[in-house]
Amino acid sequence: MRTVVSRLIHSRSSLPRLFIMDAPRNGRYLSTDSSKVDEPFKVEEAETVNIPPPPTEKLLVLGGNGFVGSHVCREALDRGLSVASLSRSGRSSLHDPWANNVTWHKGNLLSPESLKDALDGVTSVISCVGGFGSNSYMYKINGTANLNAIRAASEQGVKRFVYVSAADFGVVNYLLRGYYEGKRAAETELLTKFPYGGVILRPGFIYGTRSVGSVKLPLGVIGSPLEMLFQHTRPLNQLPLVGPLFTPPVNATAVANVAVRAATDPVFPPGIVDVYGIQRYNQKSK
Ligand SMILES: NC(=O)c1ccc[n+]([C@@H]2O[C@H](COP(=O)([O-])OP(=O)(O)OC[C@H]3O[C@@H](n4cnc5c(N)ncnc54)[C@H](OP(=O)(O)O)[C@@H]3O)[C@@H](O)[C@H]2O)c1
Repeated sequence: MRTVVSRLIHSRSSLPRLFIMDAPRNGRYLSTDSSKVDEPFKVEEAETVNIPPPPTEKLLVLGGNGFVGSHVCREALDRGLSVASLSRSGRSSLHDPWANNVTWHKGNLLSPESLKDALDGVTSVISCVGGFGSNSYMYKINGTANLNAIRAASEQGVKRFVYVSAADFGVVNYLLRGYYEGKRAAETELLTKFPYGGVILRPGFIYGTRSVGSVKLPLGVIGSPLEMLFQHTRPLNQLPLVGPLFTPPVNATAVANVAVRAATDPVFPPGIVDVYGIQRYNQKSK
């Protein structure tokens, strides 16, 4: 919302050659030229000016120190948002300068009371929390942890919640049952608790630069050419069982861009955005 303020302008005859131009749309144009400099000159004019409000958007990134989460934090900071992150290890091993502009909280989503402080004043949340392990561990991290976060955010009156989930991978879904059952349980909860402000992103493989300690792994070396190649195999994506293996990889910066937009744009439609949707929204915002 923008604030409209009235401003008074007073000018005196001693002013040198003066031009005051108002916006052409209201057609007002005041000027004096040099021949009129000595004449008494006075303008009292009420002029409306649009002043943007101070930034009130506060974004909490769950897992902001992870691979996707750190891209999300950077994207949000670039857009001038106030950014906080919560994860079990806090800031962890991130050494990049942008990390100094994030408020780092330590907390475990499996103990939801540790989320309370971090949610204070937050208007939107992006969850990048997920992981692999045994089936029961995967259900907890991808499912229970995010269910807890969704419920806590809803209770605190957060307006928008974006969950970075994952695309189906056909037969792989069976092998990673806990991972996918957890993801889908969190998605269902999100659409229930945030029917108007809940967005689910379902990327396939995400590539980009992944920091492992002080080492940066350039996963884009494989991911970027694969993404281009897979643009031409889209019809194969419809094949039963193996089709989803042709899901194109997507850049972490594209996922971050769409996630931040979905978390802050009140007209971004709620629901599921698949990998093609992520590519499309990302292209549109360029
Ligand atoms: N990378 C991909 O190719 C890919 C593809 C499709 C979908 N995804 C999904 O995208 C999301 C992000 O993936 P990623 O590759 O960025 O994973 P990641 O690098 O392993 O990041 C996971 C983040 O979750 C935090 N975390 C884990 N358990 C937590 C808990 N109990 N409480 C609080 N924080 C917790 C971790 O920080 P701490 O360890 O400090 O807690 C870390 O910041 C995941 O949901 C993943 O399933 C990833």
